[in-house]
Amino acid sequence: MTDISDPDTAPVDLERLRREHERQYEVYHRVSIQEHLDDMADRREKCPISFSPDGGFWVLSRYDDMSTVLRKNNRGVVSFPNIPDGKPAFGQKKTIPIELDGSVHSQYRKILDPLFSPARVKELEPRIREVARDLIAGFAARGECDFVEEFAMPFPGSIFLALMGWPIEDTARMNAWVNTMLHGVEGGTEEETLAARGQAAGEIRAYMNEIIAARRAEPQDDITTILLRAEIDGAPIPDDDLYDLFVLIMLAGLDTVQSVLAQSMSYFARHQDTWDSMFADPARMGDAVEELVRWCSPAGPSRTITSDTLAVGELTLPEGERLYCPLSAGNRDPKYFPEPDEVRFDRDAKPHLSFGLGTHRCVGLHLARTELRIAFEELRELMPRFDLTAGREPHEHVGLTWGVDNVWLTFPPRS
Ligand code: HEM
Repeated sequence: MTDISDPDTAPVDLERLRREHERQYEVYHRVSIQEHLDDMADRREKCPISFSPDGGFWVLSRYDDMSTVLRKNNRGVVSFPNIPDGKPAFGQKKTIPIELDGSVHSQYRKILDPLFSPARVKELEPRIREVARDLIAGFAARGECDFVEEFAMPFPGSIFLALMGWPIEDTARMNAWVNTMLHGVEGGTEEETLAARGQAAGEIRAYMNEIIAARRAEPQDDITTILLRAEIDGAPIPDDDLYDLFVLIMLAGLDTVQSVLAQSMSYFARHQDTWDSMFADPARMGDAVEELVRWCSPAGPSRTITSDTLAVGELTLPEGERLYCPLSAGNRDPKYFPEPDEVRFDRDAKPHLSFGLGTHRCVGLHLARTELRIAFEELRELMPRFDLTAGREPHEHVGLTWGVDNVWLTFPPRS
């Protein structure tokens, strides 16, 4: 006879669980990142796995729970739809590769991983440094800049375009599309955001269709051409899927790196001693970048349970429930990161969650680390000292990715 007290076999009373752990979560909470993280810290203490009735998803706040869930990909959870409320932001089609699972996903990873390997990224270093220097030269003499607009956004954007072999002049257009796709219309209604996203999606599709046609006619030594020649299940990737893949690489590579740059510079402007200590030992620059990536963590993966039940922390949740992992909250778990809200370059090495875990772990992490290290090195040359511009406070957002919309900096001009 079945023992109904056995958590593995007892039916889950979902309604009761949801009621007992109910706590509303606003994905687009209009507060600062730290205020939102304070709310996450409060959840971690009082209700570490909470259910948001609006959107119908579970919110995790602890490092260990996020780690458990993300490692379960293909073995209890899938990544579609990779959005907390389950309403895909970019239509019903699965985003490639981040919403694919199983064999198709691993075939995509076999194609993508070598394109972003440490050796490939190393080759790119001179180009990355050149992009950083060119952008800095654009504002150095003024002694003031909107760091987001003039560096954090165009920097990864230009590198993405160079990698893909697309025209470098399109950086601003590309960034505007990314902004609309990820953050919608600031202060606008849901309808306005949906309309703006639809328009951006149409423009991106037209742009990419042109590029695909041009590369087919005239192949080049770039990632676009490699992906056009790649095969999934023994056949070339259809244009529609290529489009999805390009969009995802674009979104994933631009918004995250720019968020870490913008959040970090906003922090350093208020903590000059931390900025100085970052460069005290050049051999430890890599560790310093990791700490910044931990502290900033812009992304938040969502998963859907596919096994009959899944144990997450002290709860057993049934198939079909959606789990949201705001990685920033996991990375501020004091269990592993004492004084988690501080940027500290002398932490013991506990791997952070910012690049995700399991089968979907970030494809571009070597590129991201290199971009960030080079950007900080070049910025240090120009701006050993800088302040936030008086009267222009940075404006932060949380959402599908977290970041800062503007960081106005003032510094001694350089000719
Ligand atoms: C600091 C910068 C970055 C952060 C914090 C970051 C974070 C992440 C995270 C958390 C995931 C996993 C999402 C999930 O599990 O659902 C991911 C996946 C991905 N990232 Fe990044 N990323 C960064 C930079 C980049 C860059 C520069 C690229 C450019 C190539 C990139 C390309 C991708 C791709 C293609 C995936 C999908 C992997 C898959 O589904 O298998 N990322 N990233």
